[in-house]
Amino acid sequence: MHLSSLFTTVLVALAAVHPASAQLPASSGPSYSPARPPAIPLAVRGPYTNAWSSTSYNGTLNTNGVVFWPGNALGWEGMVTVDGVTYEYLGTGSQGLPALSTLKSATPLTVSYDSQYSNFTFAAGPVELTASFLSPVLPKDLCRTSIPLSYLTVTVRSTDNATHNVQLYNDLNGAWISYENNRTLEWAMYQGSTSINGSSSSGKGSAPHTWLYALQEPYLFGENYQFPQWGNFTFSSAQGGAQNMTYGSGYSANVRYRYLISHSLRNNVDGEFRGWGEQEPVFAFSHDLGSVTGNASAAVTYTLGSVQDPIMRYLTSSGIVSLKPWWSKCYGDIFSMIAFHYDDLAQSQKLASQWEAQLKSDVKSYYRANPAPAPSTQLSPSQIIFDSDDAYGYLNTNNYTGVAAPTVSEAQAYYSIVALSARQVMGAYILAIPPQSTSFTRQNSSEPLMFQKEISSDGNVNTVDVMYPAMPFFLYANPNLLRYNLEPLLQNQESNFYPNEYSMHDLGSSFPNATGHVEGNDEYMPVEESGNMILMAYAYAKFNNDTSYLQSHYPLLKQFSNYLTEYSLLPGVQLSTDDFAGELVNQTNLALKGIVGLAAMREVATLTGHFSDASNFSATANDFIKAWQTYAIDPSGTHTVLSYQYRASYGLLYNAYPDLLLNLSIVPPHILAMQSAFYPTISQIFGVPLDSRHEYTKSDWEMWAAATCAPGTRSLFVTSLAAWLNATETGLPFSDLYDTTDGEAPQNPNIEFMARPVVGGHFSLLALRAGKGPVGS
Ligand SMILES: *[C@@H]1O[C@H](CO)[C@@H](O)[C@H](O)[C@H]1NC(C)=O
Ligand SMILES: *[C@@H]1O[C@H](CO)[C@@H](O)[C@H](O)[C@H]1NC(C)=O
Ligand SMILES: *[C@@H]1O[C@H](CO)[C@@H](O)[C@H](O)[C@H]1NC(C)=O
Ligand SMILES: *[C@@H]1O[C@H](CO)[C@@H](O)[C@H](O)[C@H]1NC(C)=O
Ligand SMILES: *[C@@H]1O[C@H](CO)[C@@H](O)[C@H](O)[C@H]1NC(C)=O
Ligand SMILES: *[C@@H]1O[C@H](CO)[C@@H](O)[C@H](O)[C@H]1NC(C)=O
Ligand SMILES: *[C@@H]1O[C@H](CO)[C@@H](O)[C@H](O)[C@H]1NC(C)=O
Ligand SMILES: *[C@@H]1O[C@H](CO)[C@@H](O)[C@H](O)[C@H]1NC(C)=O
Ligand SMILES: *[C@@H]1O[C@H](CO)[C@@H](O)[C@H](O)[C@H]1NC(C)=O
Ligand SMILES: *[C@@H]1O[C@H](CO)[C@@H](O)[C@H](O)[C@H]1NC(C)=O
Ligand SMILES: *[C@@H]1O[C@H](CO)[C@@H](O)[C@H](O)[C@H]1NC(C)=O
Ligand SMILES: *[C@@H]1O[C@H](CO)[C@@H](O)[C@H](O)[C@H]1NC(C)=O
Repeated sequence: MHLSSLFTTVLVALAAVHPASAQLPASSGPSYSPARPPAIPLAVRGPYTNAWSSTSYNGTLNTNGVVFWPGNALGWEGMVTVDGVTYEYLGTGSQGLPALSTLKSATPLTVSYDSQYSNFTFAAGPVELTASFLSPVLPKDLCRTSIPLSYLTVTVRSTDNATHNVQLYNDLNGAWISYENNRTLEWAMYQGSTSINGSSSSGKGSAPHTWLYALQEPYLFGENYQFPQWGNFTFSSAQGGAQNMTYGSGYSANVRYRYLISHSLRNNVDGEFRGWGEQEPVFAFSHDLGSVTGNASAAVTYTLGSVQDPIMRYLTSSGIVSLKPWWSKCYGDIFSMIAFHYDDLAQSQKLASQWEAQLKSDVKSYYRANPAPAPSTQLSPSQIIFDSDDAYGYLNTNNYTGVAAPTVSEAQAYYSIVALSARQVMGAYILAIPPQSTSFTRQNSSEPLMFQKEISSDGNVNTVDVMYPAMPFFLYANPNLLRYNLEPLLQNQESNFYPNEYSMHDLGSSFPNATGHVEGNDEYMPVEESGNMILMAYAYAKFNNDTSYLQSHYPLLKQFSNYLTEYSLLPGVQLSTDDFAGELVNQTNLALKGIVGLAAMREVATLTGHFSDASNFSATANDFIKAWQTYAIDPSGTHTVLSYQYRASYGLLYNAYPDLLLNLSIVPPHILAMQSAFYPTISQIFGVPLDSRHEYTKSDWEMWAAATCAPGTRSLFVTSLAAWLNATETGLPFSDLYDTTDGEAPQNPNIEFMARPVVGGHFSLLALRAGKGPVGS
């Protein structure tokens, strides 16, 4: 038992008498910009560094607490003391403390996000505090991209012209590394790479102090309820511009209480290793900022994240090997990496701002070139008719303009979607150093392998039909990343580790085990994945003008296209990527993928000099698209059906998007025009359902479809998705699957998606533009 402090029993008793006492949620929430999404990214740099602030029930940073992507509560506590009065701005830990007149809740003022930052401002008495969470998205910078750490910087300023005395407190608990609260943890404090316990030689410019904690009995490459069972969690800070910094660990109530009464910590490392459920151990820093005026104070910077080394298991011809993280090639060991990252804040901020400025300017140029309908033709909110008894009763179809929720311009709506999506996409990937010596001779060891965790749906590695919807982000941001992501799949199949003639579904059932499916019993999506592989390989090559890539993979791509030739026009009973909707024969949109894939193969064969193959693929694609139209178009002539045999059925025909993206010209323009006119007639309040079987939709496919539509319909897709983002109470990281009628997760089937990388598909409009000439021109 850990009883090192006399406070312990007293506090437990007091907490029982004053449960959740003074800190009630603020009655009116903060104001949001550019939108109020269900969850705000805080530290999102990888599958295991993936923390969010839920906005459900009008809650925010200091009323809802912080959650891991599936919703598990994480202890992250932040307090600011102003002239002796302490205000909680982050977390809800103060609710476990006795009611003190000097302990209050900071009042949330604003929450703003862009592609890199989530910024929160609070009033803490006469002081305004800004908590700025930075998870850089720098897709062209492989070294920085591979770092699994995130920044929080805190600044304060006086708002009443007076000078105030200010201290800061911040702690993390052990829930960041273990689902179970009874697994014994171990921890230590380091200055630089030296373990310390007691007063340190801190000072301005000294090496960051780092809390490192881990499971006492790690399990290499294991996961438990999505939490990694190996590696170290790291939490760092330095004195920076403060007068001094202290640290401490121990029972949360003791450590925080100690701070509340003395505004500093003891520079001690708790000696009793235990699970986080037993006298909840926390790892804390406190900074004394001294006097603070109306100018923003010197910032205090914290960095945090989950660090794994090795990071992946990978099947090669010399057996299964462990792969090291790419950052170790850039920075060395964990301490050097932490120190580099900590000291890199200013440069990271600069690079982050550049990427953000480019994104804003690219959105602007897209809409300059492809304007939204003129405002005079838009419906005002009062003209929107929503009849809940009539599935099609939302928009007036006589004079619809395709605008569902015109509270902001379409460009602003689109920006609010893509800015939120960027960190979520990158948060599903890790970069690894390729195996040292294998038969994969063409692998250039100056380039990483990239692995995706299929977050939330089933944790597969490099799922082909999850990479495919995310593709627009990578084509926009750095097509090479698409290649690094495809590379392990190609290596596996070109080494004949996979027995089927069609493309594999994924590279392993459970991240981080990229061990393939040597028995070929992976999820059966043959047309889906074969088409996806061809389209992604060609898309990469086209965007990077890399014909030799197609040359070296030609045999495998040809094998997949032979499968498409045989099976794509009349797909048998198969799953498409939307596997939650179940199997279906003759899926119109799936068949179209096969046809578009064959048209892409026509280009691949031409570019690589396989001219007779090219004319075969061309002839097949042309025959198929003619036959497809006879099956696919509903007898009413107004839309395509979901599957050939179901009259009046419908679905989003999103696989037409690569036809435009890659200039394949296989889908006749009248098909796109017909669909564009049809979608608004079935739109619900939060967008167009995925298909006629359900009221739910997929945001990624909506945005793919949007890119194939006329501006009015595109505007409907974009603004209704932004309206959903602003209105849903789902409360978890951006779900790509939601109900179009009530904004919630689907009830039937009862599944909830969150934090998936498929939100990369929201970049569909920007990728289209990127493919048509220099972005930003
Ligand atoms: C979200 O809603 C708020 C408040 O109604 C509004 O000010 C803001 O413009 C909306 N944002 C978007 C992207 O719709
Ligand atoms: C959130 O706030 C809005 C506006 O203040 C209010 O209409 C709504 O009922 C609140 N929702 C909840 C769940 O408290
Ligand atoms: C967030 O704060 C940073 C400075 O810490 C600033 O550069 C960035 O523009 C801010 N972003 C938003 C959306 O407020
Ligand atoms: C702060 O001082 C300025 C200039 O002296 C004055 O205009 C302003 O009203 C003061 N603000 C407060 C909150 O006292
Ligand atoms: C830890 O807690 C889990 C339930 O969360 C329980 O199944 C397990 O038996 C416990 N282990 C120990 C060692 O108490
Ligand atoms: C990965 O494989 C190892 C070795 O078989 C196994 O112990 C571990 O549990 C696997 N990880 C996951 C997440 O399934
Ligand atoms: C975690 O840190 C410990 C040192 O505290 C080290 O021995 C171990 O190798 C680290 N584990 C990983 C996976 O980095
Ligand atoms: C930290 O700085 C404050 C303000 O200068 C000072 O009052 C306090 O004594 C210092 N604490 C330590 C441990 O140096
Ligand atoms: C740190 O030092 C204190 C005081 O000597 C001691 O009680 C504690 O056990 C030490 N912590 C560790 C992890 O050794
Ligand atoms: C659209 O049509 C309805 C009835 O057909 C009419 O009431 C409404 O004013 C029209 N709206 C516009 C913007 O023309
Ligand atoms: C594409 O690559 C080819 C051969 O490597 C080269 O001749 C051509 O100029 C490149 N085109 C562009 C647009 O860079
Ligand atoms: C699939 O579509 C084809 C072409 O319309 C049709 O002949 C066949 O009967 C359909 N299959 C099923 C199971 O309905």
